[in-house]
Amino acid sequence: MKLLVVGGGGREHAIIKKLKENKNVEDIFALPGNGGIAADATCVDIGAKDIEGIVKFAVEQKIDFAVVAPDDPLVLGCVDALQEAGIPAFGPNKAAAIIEGSKVFSKNLMKKYGIPTAQYEVFTDEKSALSYLETCPIPTVIKADGLALGKGVIIAETREEAKNAVVSMMEEKIFGESGSNIVIEEFLTGPEVSVLSFTDGNIVVPMVSSMDHKRALDGDKGLNTGGMGTVAPNPYYTKDVADRCMKEIFLPTIEAMKKEGREFRGCLYFGLMITENGPKVIEYNCRFGDPETQVVLPLLDSDLLDIMMATAEGRLTEDMVKFADDSACCVVMASEGYPKSYEKGFPITVDDDFEGTLYIAGAKKKDDGTVVTNGGRVLGVVSRKTTLKEAVDEAYRQVQKVHFENAYYRKDIGARALAAKEK
Ligand code: AMP
Ligand code: GLY
Repeated sequence: MKLLVVGGGGREHAIIKKLKENKNVEDIFALPGNGGIAADATCVDIGAKDIEGIVKFAVEQKIDFAVVAPDDPLVLGCVDALQEAGIPAFGPNKAAAIIEGSKVFSKNLMKKYGIPTAQYEVFTDEKSALSYLETCPIPTVIKADGLALGKGVIIAETREEAKNAVVSMMEEKIFGESGSNIVIEEFLTGPEVSVLSFTDGNIVVPMVSSMDHKRALDGDKGLNTGGMGTVAPNPYYTKDVADRCMKEIFLPTIEAMKKEGREFRGCLYFGLMITENGPKVIEYNCRFGDPETQVVLPLLDSDLLDIMMATAEGRLTEDMVKFADDSACCVVMASEGYPKSYEKGFPITVDDDFEGTLYIAGAKKKDDGTVVTNGGRVLGVVSRKTTLKEAVDEAYRQVQKVHFENAYYRKDIGARALAAKEK
């Protein structure tokens, strides 16, 4: 079979490596992929948002099955366009991808169907938003309605900060049209859990839970990033929590989407917070998380392509999805300075005795064959072991064997999860 994967980060590399385990797979094209993914797929310089280009390529190459991984093309209707051209594809259609594409939509959906989430108000004009901020509880959370490269959420510790956030989104338009409408919501506390799931619109099958580390610096300090590392499973996601999530969140969400005429087929990501009052939805994503995928897929014992095809065709069953009892840890190696400014173009080298898995996120292959850094998050080093402690220790041992100038990584990925396990 000839496959196509849209996207070009660490998540896509993890998806591609897993898809390659299926013996019927002959070729995988990554659009656009990256210099590291090039070791596992044929990278073609067509951008993930170039829907027309993607469809044209898929038709010309007679692609048997496509996987659309990033949020932008999904929200733009890439899966609809591929299917209309006769190419079967994994991922929600445009109508369903709105669950991530519009925070106003997802908050209203949760309210309408009684799905637990933070209380909120929607604002379409700056004046009313600012006047609401005069009296609302602080801290508060301001969210741009649309996609904002994962940066559209501001947690305001003071009224001043909250006002500045509203002005920057609604007046200065730092996130463009994404900030024309905003959600202001209650600040919740508790451990966070990411749960990716496969759903074909009829059933929902959760994958192993995971924990992201979004802040740039150790101790969860510093700026928000795309994710500096992950572990799976997440110790806060106990059997009891999982049962409640299925009953109160996962199934009601699938049902709600169906009732709205927006049946969701693909990977639905539940960003959860385990509060004193039970699990609540912080956000939905209409896709695999990055870097959650880098720890979740290595633990999947079943065939990813089979699951994806069944999901797309509406014939998913629970027994198709089996996870190992092991643990995994991903340490992201970034360019010093990320998520602000950083230098790139440094050669990446890996010692011969490296034993983990490398998922490349930001790299470029030069004409002479050397692979050089080409982004903020450069790569993820992943280890899978029997226990979480072993996985974390092993990932850090392997990190020592990967080299590039200016490399930066957090030293405490998994520390919080390990501490929670000991409690
Ligand atoms: P998001 O961009 O939606 O993933 O949000 C980024 C991060 O902001 C989340 O992972 C949470 O840590 C935090 N966050 C979002 N909404 C809330 C909330 N209502 N209360 C507390 N923290 C939040
Ligand atoms: N790791 C969070 C996300 O993919 O949105």
